[in-house]
Amino acid sequence: MFTVNPSQTVNQPDATPLDLNRIRGDFPILARTVNSKPLVYLDNAATTQKPTAVIDAVKHVYESMNANIHRGVHRLSVETTEAYEKARLRVARLINTAKESEIVFVRGATEGINLVAQSFGRTHLNEGDEVIVSTLEHHANIVPWQIVCEQTGAHLKVVPVDEDANILVDEYKKLLSEKTRIVAMLHSSNALGTVIPVTEVTRLAHEFGATVLIDGSQSVQHHPVDVRAIDCDFYVFSGHKMYAPSGIGVLYGKEALLESMPPYQGGGEMIKSVTFEQTIYNDLPHKFEAGTPNIEGAIGLGAAIEYLQSLGLPNIAAYEAKLLEYATAQLTKIPEVRLIGTAKEKVSVISFVVEGIHPHDIGTVLDQEGVAIRTGHHCAQPTMQRFGVPATARASMCFYNTESDIDRLVEAIQKTIKVFA
Ligand code: ALA
Repeated sequence: MFTVNPSQTVNQPDATPLDLNRIRGDFPILARTVNSKPLVYLDNAATTQKPTAVIDAVKHVYESMNANIHRGVHRLSVETTEAYEKARLRVARLINTAKESEIVFVRGATEGINLVAQSFGRTHLNEGDEVIVSTLEHHANIVPWQIVCEQTGAHLKVVPVDEDANILVDEYKKLLSEKTRIVAMLHSSNALGTVIPVTEVTRLAHEFGATVLIDGSQSVQHHPVDVRAIDCDFYVFSGHKMYAPSGIGVLYGKEALLESMPPYQGGGEMIKSVTFEQTIYNDLPHKFEAGTPNIEGAIGLGAAIEYLQSLGLPNIAAYEAKLLEYATAQLTKIPEVRLIGTAKEKVSVISFVVEGIHPHDIGTVLDQEGVAIRTGHHCAQPTMQRFGVPATARASMCFYNTESDIDRLVEAIQKTIKVFA
């Protein structure tokens, strides 16, 4: 199977060039202006824009079939249930799960991680046990583990990174021990772009019998992901970062683990039968989907996956790798710019600081120029602390961005430097 390595995808002989004109036309918002300038949207790690295919899929739900799912015998309910379950199947195929019942729809990666921490972690962690994360984690893959460590007496251990923000695998090996129960690690860093060698991370953790959760929020939209090749026990991601609506996300879990775990929330849908004496829980994945879910969000996610697959994830990876290369080369030419995060393997995210100018000021001037980037700590304060900065400016690119977007970014940064000189 395809393993994740963006640099290997740069020169993929099989990669088909993307038709950027057509693709940009698929995203209505890209035609708008900001401050009378054509929008350059480079905040894709925060959220991606939505193609017409996704917007139409959601509209279609409301206009043609809207009903609650798994609850009605009437036509609308049957059609909506089918569409919702078809979306689950698309997710399962996207990440190559053994069964579609291993896909649980959640609100987003954050909820997926909290579910695993509270259902799996709280059941299995004991005093003195250890949970390993990396320095680069998003707060969503730190705080839920801190909470469950507090509840159980387990301890959090952190894998350090080098000056380029590569994870130090040798240090990780030293942290692993019989006490390690859970390894929770990102696949790619939202703040700096580093891609983690998740297959190796998982293999090493499994040697100690630890359970592995991978946060794929910044990976599934950038390159093919195969959870069976990685062999991780859990994998989570959010819809809104992969061209789908917000409020929908995915938790993948190996069947045996999900079966063994207690429910995270109680309510409708997650039960087979309820009496005041005893409740029998539903089968997977419904045991973890209490209440009416984000039906239109899941269907929109299915449409987003169909769209991504029509472009081809290897083609997307190859295109974005070239764009990252171009952006890195252009930003490196500006003497005042210092890149933070220059790892060997990266998704298309560039974080930087400019000596003497606060990132928020950079973001504000860039906005005047119609260029949208994120500035701040990117929900990864420990990453900022590691690199000794309170915040960075971050340009996060995707397949609808072009070299001309990067040129506009560079011009706007140069203007900012002049303004603050
Ligand atoms: N976690 C999101 C980001 O990276 C919001 O910007």
